[in-house]
Amino acid sequence: MKTAKLTLLAVVCIAPVILVAAVGKKEKKTTPDAVARGKYLVNFGGCNDCHTPLKMTGKGPVPDLSRLLCGHPEDTKLPPPDLKPGPWFAATAGMTAWAGPWGISYAPNLTPDKNTGLGIWTEEMFIKTMRTGRHMGSGREILPPMPWQSVASLTDGDIKAIFAYLQTVPAITNHVPRPVNPKGETFE
Ligand code: HEC
Repeated sequence: MKTAKLTLLAVVCIAPVILVAAVGKKEKKTTPDAVARGKYLVNFGGCNDCHTPLKMTGKGPVPDLSRLLCGHPEDTKLPPPDLKPGPWFAATAGMTAWAGPWGISYAPNLTPDKNTGLGIWTEEMFIKTMRTGRHMGSGREILPPMPWQSVASLTDGDIKAIFAYLQTVPAITNHVPRPVNPKGETFE
């Protein structure tokens, strides 16, 4: 009899725990998935400011969404920049190419295009790139003004989410030029 009462008491006590656990599980299901989280982080993180060419409007420059994250447009013709260190460094009006004492850097194509974008990148390479500031995770140092240090401050889960989102945007074929050092030679 006593045992039966105790069992009943135990069931009554455990029931709310089970209920809370079940509700918790349901809430977890409605958490935005990695792609949505990645989109949110990319939009907040300003990646479009440099990796999506800007177009001029009456109110100033806005991202050209038909070229979302395609990087510096391959057909842009530019005069040679002044690379002397000075009080200014230069950006193109589309904000996809930059010149300064480091040479000329071009915002790469972040779309999943296999030949010209991140199509062949792995998630592991992407995390390593953002954590080390090295080209493709193990090469030369990434040039300014790519803010990889800010991305490095995110958790692995958030960096993975950014990569997951980037792999879902429309692939755009756009060969971005290789960066140039101050002597005018291209980096590897
Ligand atoms: C202020 C401009 C700017 C912003 C903002 C920016 N980038 Fe970049 N990004 C660049 C430039 C320029 C390069 C090329 C650097 C180089 O060639 O070394 C680059 C390079 C990269 C690369 C290639 C690295 C490699 O291995 O060579 C990735 C991936 C990347 N950016 C992702 C991002 C993401 C994700 C965001 C948003 C969180 C972002 N970028 C924001 C300018 C920017």
